[in-house]
Amino acid sequence: MAIERTLSIIKPDAVAKNVVGKIYQRFEDAGLKIIAAKQVWLSEREAGEFYAVHKERPFFKDLVAFMVSGPVFVQVLEGDDAIAKNRELMGATDPKKAAPGTIRADFAESIDANAVHGSDAPETAAVEVAFFFPGLNVYSR
Ligand code: PPS
Repeated sequence: MAIERTLSIIKPDAVAKNVVGKIYQRFEDAGLKIIAAKQVWLSEREAGEFYAVHKERPFFKDLVAFMVSGPVFVQVLEGDDAIAKNRELMGATDPKKAAPGTIRADFAESIDANAVHGSDAPETAAVEVAFFFPGLNVYSR
């Protein structure tokens, strides 16, 4: 198993619900290290740029509007198989289809307010980490 880094976002709905600590606990309990973190209130330009890959999809405007509706917490998670592990912790995009015990099943209300984002592949993780933490260089071990 490879040590990977992945980008995680705790979205405005989960921040408003005051469950940031509970979500961080899940990352730590799964063996993922939070090696960088910050709170950000995204502008429309930033949210649009981050989700540019979805700009032709029908929900793009709603997604951007939601992501700028309040502050988010952005973090880099590091660990064995971090990308897949984080996706597993998150659960399916639609909380109604998310497995019991996942973050989305426990904390999200709907497909458009679904508590968390996580990079889906090594290539996107690299781009997304660089988007929020340019030049990230953490010394560990
Ligand atoms: S994913 O996570 O990329 O596999 O899922 P996908 O279905 O491709 O969705 C991409 C992101 O768009 C969000 N989404 C929506 N937002 C608003 N309204 C609707 N209907 C909707 N459907 C999907 C979804 O939460 C994904 O956001 P991220 O932040 O990438 O998880």
